[in-house]
Amino acid sequence: MHFLRAVLATFFSTGFLFTSADAFLSLGVWNRNPRPYNLSLVPRSGISPRSSHHKQCRLVLGSNNSQGAPQGPSQGPSPSQPTHAPQPQPTQTGPSNGVIHVASPGACAGIGATINVTTTTGPNGAIDWLNCGVDSDGWNPAYVTVDDIVTKDLATVLAQDNSAFAPCAPYLDLFNKYSKQYGIPTILIASFAMQESTCNPSTIGGAGEQGMMQITPDKCTGAPKGNCLDPDFNIRTGVHYFADTLKSNGGNVLLAVGQYNGWYQGLTYASATAAQNTSCCHCQNNLDYVHQFFNGWCQGVNAFDAHMGKYFNVNVCGS
Ligand SMILES: *[C@@H]1O[C@H](CO)[C@@H](O)[C@H](O)[C@H]1NC(C)=O
Ligand SMILES: *[C@@H]1O[C@H](CO)[C@@H](O)[C@H](O)[C@H]1NC(C)=O
Ligand SMILES: *[C@@H]1O[C@H](CO)[C@@H](O)[C@H](O)[C@H]1NC(C)=O
Ligand SMILES: *[C@@H]1O[C@H](CO)[C@@H](O)[C@H](O)[C@H]1NC(C)=O
Repeated sequence: MHFLRAVLATFFSTGFLFTSADAFLSLGVWNRNPRPYNLSLVPRSGISPRSSHHKQCRLVLGSNNSQGAPQGPSQGPSPSQPTHAPQPQPTQTGPSNGVIHVASPGACAGIGATINVTTTTGPNGAIDWLNCGVDSDGWNPAYVTVDDIVTKDLATVLAQDNSAFAPCAPYLDLFNKYSKQYGIPTILIASFAMQESTCNPSTIGGAGEQGMMQITPDKCTGAPKGNCLDPDFNIRTGVHYFADTLKSNGGNVLLAVGQYNGWYQGLTYASATAAQNTSCCHCQNNLDYVHQFFNGWCQGVNAFDAHMGKYFNVNVCGS
């Protein structure tokens, strides 16, 4: 993310300052990706499915064990799930039949959710629905709450062989603790940590973003012994920020997660990619971010390895 981008987006979210905010942001906020993309492999737009990755996704997601969020840590199923076995259907609050169900009128009507994850669809809707408006007159996603989205239980995902979240295992207790404290599903928190730093607490971003959650230095006040990388402090601060963001977006989790990558209502393809040919190519918004987050990470799938998306606009920046 772009914690700084997101912070600034918050400040400028009334709309009339977008242009100046973007100009400001393009000065040097590093849109870092823990794993470099390979431009030569992926066209900027257009789907580039790879069968091996499809298989990988289905391997993880073939069973109907999607769960409604949020999930308390105490709900963690027994840690011995065979990857393929059908699992008991837990009580769901929002989703039914393993996919999201929300009102979605107008231009964003076709949710396009699929039980299985593909490069461009998944239980939380197709990328074209999640990104509704980006390719035309600006991002204007449906109203989706935390309770509406389909998520996996983090402890269950961690128990799988070759878990996409393996690097996060040492921090499960912390994710659970702040999940409870802020009412954010555990896997959402860990998804940010994977997307931002691959759960590596010593990660420092290009603009000085700190630690696992890549928080901006201005948020480090009160860190224990001044150590902003401290996992407990770092996760708490990141979750606190996200909870505030969710609130300021009226509970719309699509807007809130997008904002973590600097997206805002009205974002267009042109504005998201404007930095592409500048000296700060990584200042672009990753236009696959929301899809990668909800249909990849939140389903226990490594969204980067699975090459999830269709824009891959950040790939042109190299590593
Ligand atoms: C990028 O893709 C090209 C073409 O497939 C390949 O030759 C090259 O090794 C890849 N680079 C990286 C860093 O993966
Ligand atoms: C989802 O994946 C499972 C496991 O690979 C497969 O058996 C099933 O047919 C798929 N369902 C759909 C609707 O594609
Ligand atoms: C998954 O759920 C769908 C819809 O409820 C059902 O048709 C399908 O048979 C289920 N698949 C498995 C593997 O349980
Ligand atoms: C960046 O340059 C490429 C290649 O010249 C071009 O196709 C693309 O449209 C440019 N992007 C922007 C945002 O100007």
